[in-house]
Amino acid sequence: MTKPKSPAPQNITSMLQEERLFPPPAEFAKRAHVKSMGQYKKLYRESIEDSEGFWGRQANAELVWIKPWKEVLRWKAPNAKWFLGGQLNVAANCLDRHLNTPTANKAALIWEGEPAAPGQMGEERVLTYQQLHREVCMFANVLKRNGVGKGDRVIIYLPMVPEAAIAMLACARIGAVHSVVFGGFSAQSVADRIFDCQAKLVITADGGYRRGSIVPLKKSVDEALVLKDATGALLAKTIEKVIVLRRASNDIHITEGRDVWWHRELEYVDANCPAAKMDSEAPLFILYTSGSTGKPKGILHTTGGYLLGAKMTTKYVFDIQETDVYWCTADIGWVTGHSYVVYGPLANGATSLMYEGAPNHPEPDRFWRIIAKYGVTILYTAPTAIRAFMKWGVEWPKKHNLSSLRLLGSVGEPINPEAWMWYHEVIGGGRCPIVDTWWQTETGGIMITPLPGATPTKPGTATLPFFGIVPEVVDDQGNPVPKNSGGKLIIRKPWPSMLRGIWGDPERFKQTYWSEVQGAYFTGDGCRQDKDGYFWIVGRIDDVLNVAGHRIGTAEVESALVSNQKVAEAAVVGRPDELKGQALVAFVTLKTGIKPSHAIRDELRAHVAKEIGPVAKPDDIRFAEALPKTRSGKIMRRVLKQVAAGVEVKGDTTTLEDFSVIAKLVAAED
Ligand code: PRX
Repeated sequence: MTKPKSPAPQNITSMLQEERLFPPPAEFAKRAHVKSMGQYKKLYRESIEDSEGFWGRQANAELVWIKPWKEVLRWKAPNAKWFLGGQLNVAANCLDRHLNTPTANKAALIWEGEPAAPGQMGEERVLTYQQLHREVCMFANVLKRNGVGKGDRVIIYLPMVPEAAIAMLACARIGAVHSVVFGGFSAQSVADRIFDCQAKLVITADGGYRRGSIVPLKKSVDEALVLKDATGALLAKTIEKVIVLRRASNDIHITEGRDVWWHRELEYVDANCPAAKMDSEAPLFILYTSGSTGKPKGILHTTGGYLLGAKMTTKYVFDIQETDVYWCTADIGWVTGHSYVVYGPLANGATSLMYEGAPNHPEPDRFWRIIAKYGVTILYTAPTAIRAFMKWGVEWPKKHNLSSLRLLGSVGEPINPEAWMWYHEVIGGGRCPIVDTWWQTETGGIMITPLPGATPTKPGTATLPFFGIVPEVVDDQGNPVPKNSGGKLIIRKPWPSMLRGIWGDPERFKQTYWSEVQGAYFTGDGCRQDKDGYFWIVGRIDDVLNVAGHRIGTAEVESALVSNQKVAEAAVVGRPDELKGQALVAFVTLKTGIKPSHAIRDELRAHVAKEIGPVAKPDDIRFAEALPKTRSGKIMRRVLKQVAAGVEVKGDTTTLEDFSVIAKLVAAED
């Protein structure tokens, strides 16, 4: 693992020139949960000066506890325990608490399926809180019937259908720990995750719809369940049952005794399922994310603190009001889908919209059609999607009435000012504030963000910290850097929704996040603060890339490449990409006697898709006779990044082992 370096100054100077400032619209200043900068500053100060008092008050006000907590925080870096002694249930906080209120008959989930003819809408389902509660209770009983109990790990590998949320909440209801695997990941990825968390059961579907074709999820699960490790042992030997949802009606194979149909199982259960009493620190979910080694990390989140973070950020950042129709376009396979499709909105009694498919199916106006049809008021999406919309042209959004929108959000990667302005003007009609929210799988919830009734925004910055969050930009020695200088982004104080560890690997947890700066959490991001104290995220400074808002570890792709028989060595770097933010470029040396060809290039891309999933396929594979290395044998990624970006190779190359390598790499591009 290379030690992350602070960002290069050239990335920072252009940001210094941003002068545009967008104050909150008057309507927000009147009725938002936080109505002015003064109010934000007062609350923020309180949350920092007496953070335990602040979080304790919030935990009591926002969550329903079965047993009250006794101690707000026990902190012994890097281990935090929040709301000790307290017991609660996440599903009960998302569902049961609304049942004896007018929210009971409000739409909890509005879902739209992907298949649709041009100009038409898709299948529609609406589940009220009452109905969702019933479905969750029944499915929780199905899980119990199939041997799942408190603390057992359950893999959820489903398309974006209401059952994905139902499955998550059903696990939470009985105290099982879910690990959602994005439907775009491969059988190998499913098997690796099952092995890592020793899961007992998989919940999947026959298939899911994506851009008009069917993704055969059950087939991938079948493959995953027979995959073996290097010693010949089955990776998924802990799996006892597979529950299969019928969604796409594609042909699948059912293994008797192991596989059961979701709809058949429902025939054996009723809707009576008490919510399990869970300790505040009981694990809620594990979500795998890429890091700087070949092996994804199982990020662990627990019950009370996570839910408090998800609930409060949803309420304040999206300024959720009773009449909102809120749409976060993330897949539940990512943390954004966990916190801002399911847990945050439901804990607030909001209406959360879920859409199954691609933004350009059947035509590039699908999002705008959905907004107009359901009267969506809040839209939360990723810069990559916004850049794709820009490319497809304004004629698509212009065809639809988007006047219901009142607030826009952005997440997952830095948003370039051009995309910000387009989003503001074309989608938001110039009237909707944009909340550019910075956070991570590890942080559980939004950390740096504008509050729409308070914070004046500037295109390209996530602005200021949320309550209780203390970010800081530091140099390589851990000292704060002056305003306007680049550095590493760290978080000084613990916060309730922070990760509690890496599943099964406390050493890696310490190493990755807590060894850069004593006692502080290291984010892996480069950042600078401007004269107003606004935080500008520059991007990852570790060996992690952000491709179309998806986190991909370079080492993970490298190990997938070298697992192909023809590859001797591989190095993967990012290059700037107009649409995806970053694109993956792989430099590959083939084994002696094997000649580079288009066929091998295709084979290697397909190989990575098989090993990890199509999201990790290199955009570009470049064959090289040798990779630039230092005399001690370390690959010089800095050089490769420059070659990949097509810029002149600059900087210190005195440690390079063989100078001719660079010349050959560059020449190979001509
Ligand atoms: O580099 C930052 C970038 O996404 C990383 C976290 O990725 P992940 O854990 O997959 O979570 C994505 C959704 C929360 C961060 O380290 N990132 C996320 N949001 C922003 C961002 N970069 C700039 N601006 C953002 N708003």
